This record gives sequence, structure tokens and C-alpha cells, in this order.
Amino acid sequence: MAKFASIALLVVLLSGLCAASRVPMSSLGRLPGRRLLQFANITLPDLPYAADALEPVISEEIMVLHHDRHHQAYVNGFNTAVVRLQSAQDASNVSAIVDLTSLLNFNGGGHVNHALFWESLTPVESFVPVSGSLAESINDTWGSFEAFQAAFEGAAAGVQGSGWVWLGQDPATGALSIRTTANQDTLAAKYKLTPLLGVDLWEHSYYLQYKNVRADYVDAIWQVINWPEVESRFTATA
Ligand SMILES: [Fe+2]
Repeated sequence: MAKFASIALLVVLLSGLCAASRVPMSSLGRLPGRRLLQFANITLPDLPYAADALEPVISEEIMVLHHDRHHQAYVNGFNTAVVRLQSAQDASNVSAIVDLTSLLNFNGGGHVNHALFWESLTPVESFVPVSGSLAESINDTWGSFEAFQAAFEGAAAGVQGSGWVWLGQDPATGALSIRTTANQDTLAAKYKLTPLLGVDLWEHSYYLQYKNVRADYVDAIWQVINWPEVESRFTATA
């Protein structure tokens, strides 16, 4: 039973990791025996632009620390947790497996969320406004893009401590919604929504530049949202 529980947990996390790395789950095969260890080698993805490319909205110093130190720590933490999970599974140690759940969720979620975040941003000179069916759906849902922005920023302001603010889509109905998650919880795990846009609200993502004024960071980040990338995650409904 413990083996099945640990495998199920990995499948949930790996579905997010596959989405982040654009690797189909079907290519990973099944996960019996010691095959968990094959997932203990995820690597830090490169930024899709230079570390100073988001200035003046996000400084090079923040991007280097955020990507090279913080995201790397989530990658390392996930790999270590998978090795420990394999050992716990081999020993049929149920309590050890349960204890590893939060570590896997935190570090695996940290990797998945950040991989999506980097791809969601673009240099100011490359910025283009939201368009097409996603723009129409935003207008239908909130009345206007400005009203959507206000709702998004309001949700971000309501996050106490560390977390994320999201624009998500219900994969069953196509409905858009704004949600927040704590720590490194993923939108899919928490609300069963497809993440279209996520903004990191941890202090490490803005404090060196915006100090304690998180609202200024969220207000500025609209200038570097990669809407074509966000639109590519959106599934238009009739
Ligand atoms: Fe972060």
C-alpha cells in the first residue's frame, strides 16, 4: 500500500514537472520498483532571456539570485527528496513516506511554478498586449482588461506571507478565474485549474528592488508579461 501511495504522489508531481519541461507523461513509462530514482535528476532550466533583460521592471540582481539560487534550491531539494522516497519505499517505511510528502510538494512545486514563471515573462521591448480568444474571455469574465488587472492585483495584495497569484482555467468548463496559493503549492494540485499566468509573490522575487512595497512590483510586472506564451496555455471554448 505504501508503494502505491508513493507512486501516486510522484505521478501527481511529475505531471506538473512534465508540463513545465514540455515532456509528455507517456514518455516516462510506469513507475514500479526502483524507477523512482530516474526522476532524481531534474535540472535547472535556463532563463529564456538574459538575466538583465527584464530591467527596469525586475533587476538583474534579483533575476540571478532568484533563478540561480532559489530555483536551483528547489531542483536540488526535489532530487534529494526523490532519493529519500526511494529508500523509504524500499524499506516499506510508511511514516517516512508520509513525512516526505511536504518536502516533495514544496520543492517539486517550487520547480514547476518557477519554470512556468520564467516563461511567462518577456523583455519590455518584446511586450505585446493580450489578444485573441484569451483577451475575449478575460473581457467576458471581468468586463474589461483593466477590471481583470484590478482583481488580480487585489488578490495578490491579499496573500499573507509567501505565495503566488494566478490566472487559471478550468479544463472542464474553460472558465477563467483568479486564485492564490500559499508557499509553493501548485494551482493544479490546489484547485485543479490549468495555470495560464502565475506571479511569484515571495519576497525573494521583488524585495531587493521594491523593498516592502509588493503592490509596486505587481503593478510593474504587467510591462513584462509574455502574453503570447500565456495565450498558448489557454484553451478556447466555443
Ligand atoms: Fe520565487
